[in-house]
Amino acid sequence: MGATLNREELKKKRDKYLFPSVKQMYADPPHFVKGRGQFLYDETGREYLDMFAGIVTVSVGHCHPKVTQRTVEQIQTLQHTSTVFMTQPMIDLAEKLAEIAPGDLDRSFITNSGTEANEAAIKTARVASGRHEVIALQHSYHGESHLASTLTANHNYRPDTMPASGIVHAANAYCYRCPFKKTPDNCNLECAKDVERVIQGSTSGKPAVFIAEPIQGVGGTITPPEPYFKEVKKILEQYGVLFIADEVQTGVGRTGQHWFGISSYGVVPDMITMAKGLGNGLPIGALITTTEIAEKASKQQINTFGGNPVSAATGVAVLQVIEEEKIMQNAHEVGAYMKAGMEDLQKQFPDMIGDVRGKGLMLGMELADKNKTPLTKEAARIVELAKDDGVVIGKGGLWGSVIRIKPPMNITKENVDTTLKVMRKAIEATAKVGVK
Ligand SMILES: Cc1ncc(COP(=O)(O)O)c(C=O)c1O
Repeated sequence: MGATLNREELKKKRDKYLFPSVKQMYADPPHFVKGRGQFLYDETGREYLDMFAGIVTVSVGHCHPKVTQRTVEQIQTLQHTSTVFMTQPMIDLAEKLAEIAPGDLDRSFITNSGTEANEAAIKTARVASGRHEVIALQHSYHGESHLASTLTANHNYRPDTMPASGIVHAANAYCYRCPFKKTPDNCNLECAKDVERVIQGSTSGKPAVFIAEPIQGVGGTITPPEPYFKEVKKILEQYGVLFIADEVQTGVGRTGQHWFGISSYGVVPDMITMAKGLGNGLPIGALITTTEIAEKASKQQINTFGGNPVSAATGVAVLQVIEEEKIMQNAHEVGAYMKAGMEDLQKQFPDMIGDVRGKGLMLGMELADKNKTPLTKEAARIVELAKDDGVVIGKGGLWGSVIRIKPPMNITKENVDTTLKVMRKAIEATAKVGVK
């Protein structure tokens, strides 16, 4: 292993060798060299509280001893065969996913990432239905392949190339900025009804599938009202349209109480895609669907690294740790505590914090002035100042104006207190002097 470079040396090499489009969150990024639990350490040994978990990926804490031990055992025993050979970890993982998935979702295709899981889901939906068109939601993020970036409704992540065919977008359930200028008490769920308008007006009337995140992640923790997905599902059933819940961020218990975010809406989708937190940092993804749908995907599917023994064994270990350490319950309780603290901040800074939303440890705080103008520069400044004070928080939304809190799910109330204190200081400093 080469010598560890200091951050300035590393920055120079980064600027010389990486694609400039691989942007990092900070103007002055730390050089992280170690992670333990909910903490990161830079090359000088400085500790940072990690409230963003990579990008919402380190579900049970950095280098969790049980998970890491299972990963190491497996990598020293059998690392690779591919899906064309039979190995136990991939099948153990599929069995566990069938156990935790809602309804009769009991068949899995294991991939390396969320993008691949969504690719597999759309392909399967098209093959199973014999239809082509796909409906996604405004402000969504579904990955970075050609197809997944067209599903994504955010210009920041869509290169200027020919988009994939057959994809249309419906309005999202964004109550703070309702696309129909309504309020939740008088809206009659116009956003859900828009799915029908899109089916009738922008498709052949027979689209294959609808894909949505139960809570939009990159989009800025946009959290639909409770009856939204039930209403959408009714419309989808009427038109024979399948439903994919993209649980890449909301899966493995992040929203608290349920393994999957969609379950808190009382809806069982036809397919679930997941990734990120399932591997606690190892590359993994999964598509889970019903036997009936899986059986229609009759052509052979190969994935060289998908379901590899190391990632699959790690995935099983992560799910076991979530159960053994009651991590979902922690996400629910500590998440509620964090959300209450964010709501207090909103009361203190009403001209800067427009909305606080989310469930469990999938939380967001939209920065906006009194006229709801997004405070993009302020969000960047707050994230940078928090990092300087040793707390890593995330940022997102179409305008980069949403602070995102999505930490390892084993954080404590003490970690929350530290975060709120640092955030208050950063918001105060930003409110006082503004940003240029
Ligand atoms: C909701 C959602 N879907 C899909 C993806 C793509 O996953 P990956 O980056 O593992 O390809 C992401 C990544 O952020 C995501 O947030």
